[in-house]
Amino acid sequence: MGVIVRERRPSDVTSLVDVLREVHVRDRYPIVGTHVEPGWLTEPDGPAWVAEVDGEVVGQAALATGADAVSLAALGGASVEAATLSRFFVAPRARGTGSGAALLDAVEGYAAARGLGLALEVVAHNAAARRLYERRGWTPLGSYEARWFGADGPAYEAYRFVRPPVTSAPDQGCGTIGG
Ligand SMILES: CC(C)(COP(=O)(O)OP(=O)(O)OC[C@H]1O[C@@H](n2cnc3c(N)ncnc32)[C@H](O)[C@@H]1OP(=O)(O)O)[C@@H](O)C(=O)NCCC(=O)NCCS
Repeated sequence: MGVIVRERRPSDVTSLVDVLREVHVRDRYPIVGTHVEPGWLTEPDGPAWVAEVDGEVVGQAALATGADAVSLAALGGASVEAATLSRFFVAPRARGTGSGAALLDAVEGYAAARGLGLALEVVAHNAAARRLYERRGWTPLGSYEARWFGADGPAYEAYRFVRPPVTSAPDQGCGTIGG
């Protein structure tokens, strides 16, 4: 059972929302159920990829332009071009067979081909994701208290990871992806 990673098409969004609903119930990702909708899924302004197994869309990874100030400083400062990994998930039924890793291959290949640094934030309770980033050599920047829903909203323990720009890697597997 092979995993195919390709650019997201508009027609994938309905299936992705169904997957996201399952992920929210199992992993509290996204944290709030109101984010299980097309707008949240497609909000990042960069490219997005989906993983397909047996013709079925089972996950997504997307990039948003730029990075938060802490990550950007760790990547080398304002002169570094960066993007933030966003809206990354795999259906519970498809886990543990490399779909997540294949999506990250596409993200990292895209960034390497363009000399982009990468950043991400992950909530403490998404432990599988944290393990995946560590295993792939992303640099942990430690934890912090995130208040994504305003100063009066709930606080979440979150972790930042970055991946410095790679300047010499070839654009393997991502050569036809524009942006
Ligand atoms: C993080 C996430 C996307 C990983 O997806 P995945 O498809 O299971 O990822 P992979 O299969 O590449 O790797 C996951 C595990 O399977 C193992 N694995 C990968 N390929 C494998 C294979 N061919 N055979 C057996 N095991 C394999 C990995 O070693 C890893 O093990 P670990 O859990 O002990 O670390 C998924 O867990 C998820 O959607 N989590 C909820 C949402 C989330 O946290 N998103 C990140 C927000 S920042």
